[in-house]
Amino acid sequence: MFEVDQFVADCRAAYADDSSHKAVREVAARAVSDPGQVLQGLGEPQRAGVHTLYHAPDFTILNVVWGPHMTLMPHNHEMWAVISVYTGREDNIFWRRIKDHPDGLIEAAGAKALSVKDTEPLGRNIIHSVTNPIPRLTGAIHIYGGDFFEVDRSEWDPESLQEEAYNVEKIMGLFEKSNRILEMS
Ligand SMILES: [Fe+2]
Repeated sequence: MFEVDQFVADCRAAYADDSSHKAVREVAARAVSDPGQVLQGLGEPQRAGVHTLYHAPDFTILNVVWGPHMTLMPHNHEMWAVISVYTGREDNIFWRRIKDHPDGLIEAAGAKALSVKDTEPLGRNIIHSVTNPIPRLTGAIHIYGGDFFEVDRSEWDPESLQEEAYNVEKIMGLFEKSNRILEMS
């Protein structure tokens, strides 16, 4: 059985034991090994959005629901992350900075398609973009080794690939835009 309070407590205990992503990753992987239980515990996703399950200055747990075919531009986190998919699919493109580029441009460096039950750790310096490639909602638990909402970080324009300051409102707007499309369909 998946219960949010117990999951948060297990993650916090793992993080206290090991401040890298490793122990937390194990907890998350165990949870999504039974995705039906996670769906029951969190509720079947109804709309795109970012739902905070836990938020502290040193640790954040989010339930991220991606709209159908939604894409989030390249961005970094400045802290480690663990992504565990419990329904749908999440395709990640990984990017790297082009060495010494004056505009902070990036180039694609790899990709990983995450399916239900998959757990992927992202290192502190990772830059990724995310696409939900399927015509329905995708749900994933995202865990961060820091304060997801307070740390200054970057996003990259999806067309020019130029570095900009991360804009939380703009990103939340993308989720709402996705919901408007969902409501019209
Ligand atoms: Fe991210």
